[in-house]
Amino acid sequence: MTVTLITGAASGIGLAVAQKLAAEGCGLALVDRDGDKLEAVAAGLKGAAEVRIYRGDVTDAAQVSETVEAVIADFDQIDGLVTSSGIVRVRPSFEVSAQEFRDHLEVNVTGSWFYAQAVGRQMAAQKTGSIVMIGSVYGIGGAPDRAAYCASKGAVHNLVQALAVEWGPLGIRVNAVAPTGVRTPMVQNLINNGQYNLAGVRGRTPLGRLAEADEIAEACAFLLSDRSRMITGDILRVDGGWAANGYTFAN
Ligand SMILES: NC(=O)c1ccc[n+]([C@@H]2O[C@H](COP(=O)([O-])OP(=O)(O)OC[C@H]3O[C@@H](n4cnc5c(N)ncnc54)[C@H](O)[C@@H]3O)[C@@H](O)[C@H]2O)c1
Repeated sequence: MTVTLITGAASGIGLAVAQKLAAEGCGLALVDRDGDKLEAVAAGLKGAAEVRIYRGDVTDAAQVSETVEAVIADFDQIDGLVTSSGIVRVRPSFEVSAQEFRDHLEVNVTGSWFYAQAVGRQMAAQKTGSIVMIGSVYGIGGAPDRAAYCASKGAVHNLVQALAVEWGPLGIRVNAVAPTGVRTPMVQNLINNGQYNLAGVRGRTPLGRLAEADEIAEACAFLLSDRSRMITGDILRVDGGWAANGYTFAN
């Protein structure tokens, strides 16, 4: 049984990754700060060898260490890590508070780092493992009213490259998946608040639509698997060509 730890597993992309890996018969350790949603998600998963849930906040270093220790005690191994917990707020940069900027870095970057460091120690002892962080096309290019989010995702992409270089010799691969817009609760919330330029994103995207969460999960499953054994330090865009199109401007 391969065992994968997924953060942000109660919703959106993290949930889609959990569903895909469950269908492949994996063991799953699911982490989210929303414990009620996590319970409901775990109850609905089909095909997994074993599912366990761990309620926790990825920004709390001590809690991350405790959670990873508990996962190792429960499963004896961790083969894969997907960091999908994240936040986004859309606001003109002059109005972004110090706390809001820090929150983006804390959840999106530091939380991913805490999990990578704690799980990476176990993977180093095992001499094998694959880590996938969810980045974003907004970590490749800029977008208005998203300075904190863009900064955090750019940092995630470079964190991935730094860890890939350092941990490759230890048998650990580290990659990012950079999605375009995906209609998860995160984006639906922005659409509902009139903060998402749906027509603009579609217009810029050669394939003409947002991504589905399971299309992001497919890329994660590939990067977790042995099929990608020669790939590390990569930022795999799943964006319908959004980032290839430097011609039009849209957020
Ligand atoms: N949806 C998109 O269009 C899109 C595009 C590119 C990248 N992403 C990234 O994909 C990841 C998942 O996004 P999503 O769209 O599935 O969002 P989502 O809001 O549906 O899910 C995010 C999950 O993370 C959890 N979470 C947030 N902060 C946490 C914390 N401090 N500790 C533990 N759990 C926490 C939430 O409870 C939630 O269950 C994020 O990193 C996001 O930035 C999303």
